[in-house]
Amino acid sequence: MSTYSNPTIELLLKHRSIRRYTPESIAPELLELLIRCGQAAPTSSFVQAYSIIQVTDPAKRSAIATAAGDQAWVRQAPEFLVLCADLTRINYCGELQGETWQGYTEHSLVATIDVALLAQNILTAAESVGLGGVCIGGIRNNIATVSEVLELPALVYPVFGLCLGWPDQDPAVKPRLPVSAILHRDQYDSARLPQVIQTYDQTLQHYYAARASNQRISNWSTQTYQAIYGKCRAHMLSFLQARGFFKR
Ligand SMILES: Cc1cc2nc3c(=O)[nH]c(=O)nc-3n(C[C@H](O)[C@H](O)[C@H](O)COP(=O)(O)O)c2cc1C
Repeated sequence: MSTYSNPTIELLLKHRSIRRYTPESIAPELLELLIRCGQAAPTSSFVQAYSIIQVTDPAKRSAIATAAGDQAWVRQAPEFLVLCADLTRINYCGELQGETWQGYTEHSLVATIDVALLAQNILTAAESVGLGGVCIGGIRNNIATVSEVLELPALVYPVFGLCLGWPDQDPAVKPRLPVSAILHRDQYDSARLPQVIQTYDQTLQHYYAARASNQRISNWSTQTYQAIYGKCRAHMLSFLQARGFFKR
């Protein structure tokens, strides 16, 4: 434990995704507070280019869970939020000045980054009161279906979902890459790559073999390969372009 440690740092360092919840609901007042914490995150040029869909309708929740690869926790979580990049307000501001929508990559990135920061603040605030949660990128497996279920207009796309609830499991914290693997000084050091991966593979091999549930014989590079190449989601670019994102 570092001498600089404090409750915020301890909270951040003990994050782990929670995928099983007690049936207890989250009070509306608490959910609103968590969302206000999300909105308190930094936002590019103060654009706040996001919207959140709280999915309460069981039929819609089930349709989205199926679309996300049948993830049980999407059905079960007391709250499920779909975090959307939303350029409609930016577009409206432009229209007020006589602009027509161009769909620049830059603006699409701004909105997507804003969503990630919003989500992380919501999750951290949730964890600070004892809630747990998990992000659900699986909704992009069938992004068209999810967008249709939620009746999302053009210039709005679902970046990922967020399950929230009171934890009914206590998984171990997953060891991250060492800081020395990701922190470069003054210039990017490519030479370290093979050693970094070899060492981290060993760390994760121990973690996967020793954890309480879902034990497996694997390592980080194999898991990462399978995760990334198993989820190319080749439909994304054309879908997003049709919705007005990443057009140029
Ligand atoms: C944008 C994003 C999308 C994710 N999508 C999923 C998902 O669809 N299903 C899931 O179970 N976990 C998902 N995760 C959770 C990651 O698998 C998890 O954060 C990672 O394995 C590290 O584990 P930890 O959060 O327990 O530390 C996602 C995380 C992020 C940030």
